Amino acid sequence: MRYPDEIVEEVRARNDIVEVISSYIHLQKKGSNYFGICPFHNEKTPSFSVSPRKQIYYCFGCGSGGNVFHFVQNYENYTFPEALKLLADRAGITLPEIEYSEEAKKAKDLKTELLKVNKEAGKFYYYQLRSDSGKTAMQYLKNRGLSDETIGRFGLGFARTGQDLLYQYLKKQGFPDELLKTCGIFQFDEKRGVTDKFWSRVIFPIMDVNHRIIGFGGRTMGDAKPKYLNSPETPVFDKGRNLYGLNLARTARKNNMILCEGYMDVIAMHQAGFNQAVASLGTAFTSGQASLLKRYTEEVLLSYDSDTAGVKAAIRASQILKEAGLRGRVINLSPYKDPDEFIKNEGAEAFQERIDQAENSFYFEVRMLERDFDLNDPQGKTGFAEEVARMMLRFEEQIERDNYIEGIAAKYRMHPESLQKLVNKHAMQSERIVVRERTRSGIHDKPVQDPGIDAAQRMLLAWFADDPAVYQAAKPYVGTDDFSPGVFRKTAELLFAQLSDGEADPAAITTRFEEEEEQQQVAGIFQTPLPEEQSDGEKERTLKELLINVRTHSIQEKLYDASSGADDLSRMIALKKETEQLNRLTFHFK
Ligand code: CTP
Ligand code: MN
Repeated sequence: MRYPDEIVEEVRARNDIVEVISSYIHLQKKGSNYFGICPFHNEKTPSFSVSPRKQIYYCFGCGSGGNVFHFVQNYENYTFPEALKLLADRAGITLPEIEYSEEAKKAKDLKTELLKVNKEAGKFYYYQLRSDSGKTAMQYLKNRGLSDETIGRFGLGFARTGQDLLYQYLKKQGFPDELLKTCGIFQFDEKRGVTDKFWSRVIFPIMDVNHRIIGFGGRTMGDAKPKYLNSPETPVFDKGRNLYGLNLARTARKNNMILCEGYMDVIAMHQAGFNQAVASLGTAFTSGQASLLKRYTEEVLLSYDSDTAGVKAAIRASQILKEAGLRGRVINLSPYKDPDEFIKNEGAEAFQERIDQAENSFYFEVRMLERDFDLNDPQGKTGFAEEVARMMLRFEEQIERDNYIEGIAAKYRMHPESLQKLVNKHAMQSERIVVRERTRSGIHDKPVQDPGIDAAQRMLLAWFADDPAVYQAAKPYVGTDDFSPGVFRKTAELLFAQLSDGEADPAAITTRFEEEEEQQQVAGIFQTPLPEEQSDGEKERTLKELLINVRTHSIQEKLYDASSGADDLSRMIALKKETEQLNRLTFHFK
């Protein structure tokens, strides 16, 4: 399912980016750009830029960027179709009905129907809690410290005792058995007939990011087992790809998210003002949930139970976070069991202190590991160091590894050099494996990319977009394949095509990239600051320098291709010739 490119372009063209962004944040004109405080990271001085001409935004502080769709997607945490709809409505454009395949239509219909059932069931539980028969349940929630407002915000409900109260209610509304079988909140039994899944339980509706009920959790109010009962997975309920509370937390706009284990923990934290709290759904934290979180934050604070199982789960979760590229820190709740109990006893301020003191998750893991070793015994301490050194290999960046080696060595009174050596030893062992794999798959080692070349390519593309005359002058000497494969080359291809038809349209180029990271890179390229007011002579010198840079690199890359068979000498000769040629050129900017 896709909207035609022309529709997408029309919606974009009819929504001026400055106007749209101005309706969310305050912008001020500065030169040819508008600037404001970035809504995507914490800052005091404005580094968030919006270009009316290029119709893109880019933050020089955090690197977020894109066109008007991407802004709405990121700000509202919308999917692309949702952002498209909002902007189409804003411009008074009616989107065409998109056609689904037969199969897709069926699946979509089933999901729509399931969501309807869930919504009705949620309503039923909601009113039960607020009716006479819900009095004890309401009292239970109040006793646990929840305010009316909190109970309402989370849509809490109650399932009272009764064989099939909900089933009868939904049947009356005309839902077919087929559907009610799939939604997971009934038991269909040949002999006993149909029974409701939840009896005499407080109900926690589980919602997706769009506030649609996808499942339920139910808690006993006494000691009955199990304490919690959850809906099974259904076509609308994927436990590995949703998080409890995310529908509210996603707009919290804090610079972190808090991940915990329980529904009550999430609710207690939100009530205390920590509305960035979410929980997994009665199952272990998954990498799917980590990538979900990554859409909203860079740092996740773990607030797991302080018992053995909780510690183990926290360690596993922090590894998953690290793999997803998120920073993790662990909140110490002792002497309490979970965040709910902590807040009830110590209050919000004390919890905020614990947040501020949250421990780097690697240090946390090392501290937990420490408990398995006797550090007063030389053998114990050596074993501990070996284990820590192995863990250090998770850090791919040398600088990060060095920092941790330094930190850990100081913390545990080890010689940093000795720890470094241990790390090297383990690195060598694993490196050998990596190298062998690489040759087997036939990938050759390439020279490391010089960061200067990125800057040159970026500047050249930004300049072309800004000033078509520069592009016309440079055109004979640079091709799209002179740009590094990936985002740079694709941007060059799209830009050159636009320029040969007329004007550059950076925002339209951004639309052509699917991944958020790529969109940001593209916006970053086009918002590269260019030298101010240059004379033709200066322009010419700058352009030559950039072209020589970009061309030299590209020739080098090509000659490096094993198939070219070039040796160092012929490579140097080819380069020298090219550089001389470029240097001799004169450019005319018309
Ligand atoms: N859970 C579950 N099934 C159980 C026990 C727990 O699905 N039998 C899940 C629930 O999602 C619950 C979470 O694990 O919210 C944490 O469980 P636990 O720590 O036992 O409960 P609390 O969140 O502390 O709940 P409460 O404070 O209500 O006892
Ligand atoms: Mn609890």
